[in-house]
Amino acid sequence: MCGIVGVIGRDDATQVLLNGLEKLEYRGYDSAGVYVNDQNGHDYLVKRVGRIKNLEAALTPEIQGSIGIGHTRWATNGAPTEANAHPHVSNDGRFYLVHNGVVTNAQTLRQEYLTDVELHSSTDTEVVVQLIALFAQQDGLDAKAALRKTLKLVEGSYAFSLVDRNQPDALYVAKNKSPLLIGKGDGFNVVASDALAMLDVTNQFIEVKDEEIVTLTKTDITIENLAGTQIQRNAFTVKMDAADLGKGTYPFYMLKEVDEQPVVMHRLAEKYLDAKGNVVLPADLLDALKQADRLYIVAAGTSYHAGLVGKPLFEQLAGIPTEVVLGSEFGYHMPMLSKKPMFIFLSQSGETADSRQVLVKTKALGYPALTITNVGTSTLAREADFALELYAGPEIAVASTKAYTAQIGVEALVAKALGTAFNQPAAKQFDVAHQLALAADGQQALIDQKEHLHDLAKDMFATTRNAFFIGRGTDYFVSLEAALKLKEISYVQAEGFAAGELKHGTIALIEDNTPVVAFITDPVTAEHTRANGQEVQARGGKVLHIAAHDLAKDGDELVIGDIDPLLSPLVTIVAGQLLAYYTSYDRGYDVDKPRNLAKSVTVE
Ligand code: F6R
Repeated sequence: MCGIVGVIGRDDATQVLLNGLEKLEYRGYDSAGVYVNDQNGHDYLVKRVGRIKNLEAALTPEIQGSIGIGHTRWATNGAPTEANAHPHVSNDGRFYLVHNGVVTNAQTLRQEYLTDVELHSSTDTEVVVQLIALFAQQDGLDAKAALRKTLKLVEGSYAFSLVDRNQPDALYVAKNKSPLLIGKGDGFNVVASDALAMLDVTNQFIEVKDEEIVTLTKTDITIENLAGTQIQRNAFTVKMDAADLGKGTYPFYMLKEVDEQPVVMHRLAEKYLDAKGNVVLPADLLDALKQADRLYIVAAGTSYHAGLVGKPLFEQLAGIPTEVVLGSEFGYHMPMLSKKPMFIFLSQSGETADSRQVLVKTKALGYPALTITNVGTSTLAREADFALELYAGPEIAVASTKAYTAQIGVEALVAKALGTAFNQPAAKQFDVAHQLALAADGQQALIDQKEHLHDLAKDMFATTRNAFFIGRGTDYFVSLEAALKLKEISYVQAEGFAAGELKHGTIALIEDNTPVVAFITDPVTAEHTRANGQEVQARGGKVLHIAAHDLAKDGDELVIGDIDPLLSPLVTIVAGQLLAYYTSYDRGYDVDKPRNLAKSVTVE
């Protein structure tokens, strides 16, 4: 993860970098730093451990420049210390470098080229900046040539941004596997890991592809491949309101994003349905889906949980066998594939390295791919044959909420379109427009009961160290997601379980007052799940029931409105999200930035 940002041609470079880093903080927040140079002989390097606010406090008014680079770190190589924070500087004080990614052969490069060079950090990035300085000095190369020579040796993933203190009239950037975009300004240019970090200053962006070097001056952008051949590429416009990026009066982004879910459900209907309520997909995408004999949904974390909910949607509505796989496992242990597989990559960020390595492999095998993502400009969106957007708006809190429900919404829309194309009776009967409207109503009803949910969170989780979420079918899938939400933001050890499996071992963990949340929306197994809840209660456990209204019983703590059981996670997860939110909030944690995590996981 980590986020990088760079700017040239702005007298307020320090402020542009700081604003950009604040927007990128979701990518990592264990240390941050900037290097600025005023092109008049003054320059400054400032680094701090911890959040961006610590860096901001250290940026005294004289720290100004017109060119600079910045970094916010999620430690991969080396502990989160000031020495390991970026930018890294070469021993001769000439080159300053920020890096997002992991250079996998750093140790080998060090042994081969840098045995006489003293290193001051334990990072792979410092090896790279020392190498650039070595080649510049030893071979008399300019910054770009020294960078190019270094890149030819480097293995792994990187987005680099480099400043040469001797000639601070250009910014050099390079990319391989890690995300990077150039922002084109009027009399200035910027670069960052994500468009969000630059929206305050431009909405014109230029893509950088793997193994390209880009030279930015205040007026020009020159793209070259590693062989030095120039490449022409046009800018594209990103239409996003910078105001969407604020959290308004909410204490945390997560609460705002939970509250936005009903609007996102309506937005999906607007974007994907025509006036008659038919799903409109690009014809070539529908053709590719129709030709597939099996779908493979590839994802990680919360997106994987949304993929699990997609499996019965595709199988029941479209009649197509569907597998849901973790990118980190599937890419390296690929099972026997069907004859005509089609791959669906589900990813909020569109940057997850575990998913991307699968896309690279399946593309090489010649299989078609669709990416469903919240970021239309992301790597997975650009590299797949087809892309569909989630239209959830920027999701800033590290814990994913509205992207999860939007992913399920888009899966339902695609399954409906495919099932209709196949003349499947189940698809004909499934009124997706009505279901999305019901989902929005059901979500809103829970959002309107925040105080009740806050009380339930206190009652269930105030002091507990562990918790269980149980259900069957889609209720099991939502149990996995509800447990992940609770554990990632409140650090309660929470597990999602197939309700019937508890008695096969895990029930041994139930003690007096162990909290267990039971999801009961599947009419086929409702009574079985209730019975599993009673088994827990008989052993002293405390059960909170979240039930569909037609399956509810007196005493159920939460009852959800009408919705097709295939889509019940769209509603029930809102309860899970709010229970997790209030538990974290009451424990005094930073809900949006839980420890050890980053929003966009661009390392494998
Ligand atoms: C959890 C969460 C993560 C992500 C996972 C995949 O709240 O957000 O589990 O879902 O890192 O990220 P994307 O969806 O960006 O591929």
